[in-house]
Order: sequence, then structure tokens, then C-alpha cells
Amino acid sequence: MERNVEKMLNRVSVVFLSIGTVLMHLPLPKKNARIWFSGAWKSRLSSFSTYFLRFRDLGFIQNHTKALCLSDGAGHAPMALSQIGLSDVTAVELVDSIPLVKRADPHNLPFFDRVFDFVFTAHLAEALFPWRFVEEMERTVRRGGFCVVAVDECSGDDVRDIARFFHNSKIVDVANVTLERVKRTSILFKLQDSKRTSILFKVQDSLS
Ligand SMILES: *[C@@H]1O[C@H](CO)[C@@H](O)[C@H](O)[C@H]1NC(C)=O
Ligand SMILES: *[C@@H]1O[C@H](CO)[C@@H](O)[C@H](O)[C@H]1NC(C)=O
Repeated sequence: MERNVEKMLNRVSVVFLSIGTVLMHLPLPKKNARIWFSGAWKSRLSSFSTYFLRFRDLGFIQNHTKALCLSDGAGHAPMALSQIGLSDVTAVELVDSIPLVKRADPHNLPFFDRVFDFVFTAHLAEALFPWRFVEEMERTVRRGGFCVVAVDECSGDDVRDIARFFHNSKIVDVANVTLERVKRTSILFKLQDSKRTSILFKVQDSLS
């Protein structure tokens, strides 16, 4: 059963559109303009900007950071990252939302290994295969780069459970945040230089 679903997902990803950098300076099509100037959009956008600004203040992202947002729906996260100054932001989702979000399967990303500095998702919980989703996050981020997940607000035990998916990373930052008016826990992982060290034990240390 799982095999079949996976095969189907692979087929979906074969037909992805070519992926490029999100260009924030494109002339806005009318429909997007209506959405992007709505109060609801702006308030979600501003919650993502506040969230990402904290990472900038902590030194985890800069203007030259190459960022990827996964399963991003309508594109609040990539727009927020661009707005705070990042010039190279890509966002993908199973269904595209042009021009902010391109179509690709997050379980099978159309990118080479280690090409991003910062990979973000607020939708790990909805992934069909979380382990595969995380594998792709870790594959496409460079060593020393960051994988960041925002999940429903949770305690240290849950954070440790999520960390088990990240075989090659170490937790660097855990914070409770409000995103889109919902309380979430943000976990930032740093991809380790050497593989297969006892990362899970390090994670436990960093939480204690
Ligand atoms: C980053 O980009 C923003 C927006 O383009 C700009 O205002 C800011 O000065 C830049 N910061 C640095 C450190 O270059
Ligand atoms: C986040 O909130 C949860 C539940 O309220 C709490 O158990 C946890 O310790 C908090 N985490 C942080 C990093 O503050």
C-alpha cells in the first residue's frame, strides 16, 4: 500500500514545473494583488516576518541566505523571507500557487544535494511520509546550514520525538512562537559536518 502511494508521488514529482527563484519584483497579476493586499494576507505575512526576523537577529539567516520553503500553500513564508531582505527564496508545494510557490513533491525534491542554507516548513505534521520529507530537507541543505520546522506547540518529549527524524542534524534552537495566531513550537536544526555521530544523544544534552 505504502509502495503504491510512493510510486504515485514519484509520478507527480516527475511533472513538476521548472523551479526557479521566487521573483518578488514581478508585476503583480490582478488576482494576486487582490489577495496580497487583503488584511488577512497581511496579518499572516507579518506573523511570518516576525518569526523569521528572530532568526535573523540570532544570526541564522542573512540577506544572502539561500532559502527553501516546503509545503507552503499560498506563499506567506517565502514572501516574508523576501520582505525581510533575502534575495534568493524558493517555495514548493504539491499544488503550485504562482508566482510565489512552484509545484514539486516535498518527498522528492527537484534540487541537487546541499544547495540551500535554510530549509523551512510549517507542515511536517501533514506530510504523508515524515521521514522521507525530513530526508529531503537534510539532503538539500548544506552542511552547517539549517532545517527549521514549526509544529503544534509541544513539550521537550515531543521535540525529542521530532528530532529522531533528523538523523544528520543537531537541535540549536527551540522556541514557542505564535504563527498565524496559532501557538507553535519552532525547532531549528543545524546540519552536522560528520554523519552518523551520536546525534540523538547530543540532542538530549542540548535539551536538558
Ligand atoms: C538586507 O536587505 C534589506 C532589504 O533589501 C536592506 O534594507 C538591508 O540593508 C540589507 N541588510 C544588509 C546587512 O545588507
Ligand atoms: C512550549 O510550551 C510547552 C507547552 O506549553 C512547554 O511544555 C514547553 O516547555 C515550551 N517550550 C519552550 C521552549 O518554551
